[in-house]
Amino acid sequence: MKIAFVGKGGSGKTTLSALFIRGLAAQDLPVLAVDADINQHLGVALGMEEGDAAALPALGAKLPLIKDYLRGGNPRITSAEAMIKTTPPGAGSRLLRITEANPVYDACARSVLLEGGSVRLLATGPFTESDLGVACYHSKVGAVELCLNHLVDGRDEFVVVDMTAGSDSFASGMFTRFDMTFLVAEPTRKGVAVYRQYKEYARDYDVTLRVVGNKVQTKDDLSFLREEVGEDLMVTFGHSDWVRSMEKGRQRPLVELESANQEAIRALRGAADEAYARRDWQRYTRQMVHFHLRNAESWGNARTGADLAAQVDPDFVLTERTPVRVDPAQVT
Ligand SMILES: Nc1ncnc2c1ncn2[C@@H]1O[C@H](COP(=O)(O)OP(=O)(O)O)[C@@H](O)[C@H]1O
Ligand SMILES: [Mg+2]
Repeated sequence: MKIAFVGKGGSGKTTLSALFIRGLAAQDLPVLAVDADINQHLGVALGMEEGDAAALPALGAKLPLIKDYLRGGNPRITSAEAMIKTTPPGAGSRLLRITEANPVYDACARSVLLEGGSVRLLATGPFTESDLGVACYHSKVGAVELCLNHLVDGRDEFVVVDMTAGSDSFASGMFTRFDMTFLVAEPTRKGVAVYRQYKEYARDYDVTLRVVGNKVQTKDDLSFLREEVGEDLMVTFGHSDWVRSMEKGRQRPLVELESANQEAIRALRGAADEAYARRDWQRYTRQMVHFHLRNAESWGNARTGADLAAQVDPDFVLTERTPVRVDPAQVT
């Protein structure tokens, strides 16, 4: 299943993504962790050394390879250049699975040993101020969307994306790609404002959104969030000395996390499981086509000089049963 953590910068997205991922790793469940935030911190939060985390290959820089692989033998996609971030898979496309080995993971993913297990980590790559609002920034984030649209995942295997909540997630269909979106909010007006904006965008797309209160210290913090967020407030985290000591570079196992915060992590898992039960592959495929047509019209057709609506395979539905086509040339 696919889980996103979104929210204002500094709210605790990376911290809570990392805790959630640790909980899964401790149970030896397959996890693909994706750092899609503008500020790339997930690697370090998962215990990587700063230098190793900074040396993670950037998905955004490998777009030509990713596109060529995913396009496979799909006759509707004539070249990697004609493939945009929203180009949907169709007959002949290659799909990704969470646990397999493939050239995309070979080029971009790194294994991180964690809580006695191991997770795969992908990163969109660092962003600079000059990237923001220009094509290069969008193509970096676009690599994640492209992968999610070509990914076939089932229950008990997880993609966890540490994401921004900025309006860039709404320029494409990225925000509709998840079984569960956890919006991390501190009990502040700004934290709640980001929730309202997200909720507004999500309304028309059946996005399952739950608020996770973070740094909730007092009764007043809690009642503020309850008043502002209502029943979307799922669970709250308090201040954590465990998190603080990790920030100081002291690695500690998850079992040492404060018990109330451990309980909150379990609640996230429970909510994700429930959301997965509502997974609808037809809708998932329909939405990717919807956003593809919108992107094609607004900039893609002009950029590529082609009618990108022709890339849509009307008979194709991504499902768990979609056979993964093996290219004989790749099998040695
Ligand atoms: N529950 C918490 N207890 C203590 N410190 C926290 C907690 N949540 C987040 N932090 C700290 O707050 C800062 C911002 O958190 P981070 O997860 O990096 O936010 P984001 O990814 O949303 O920008 C970090 O220094 C982090 O260690
Ligand atoms: Mg972060």
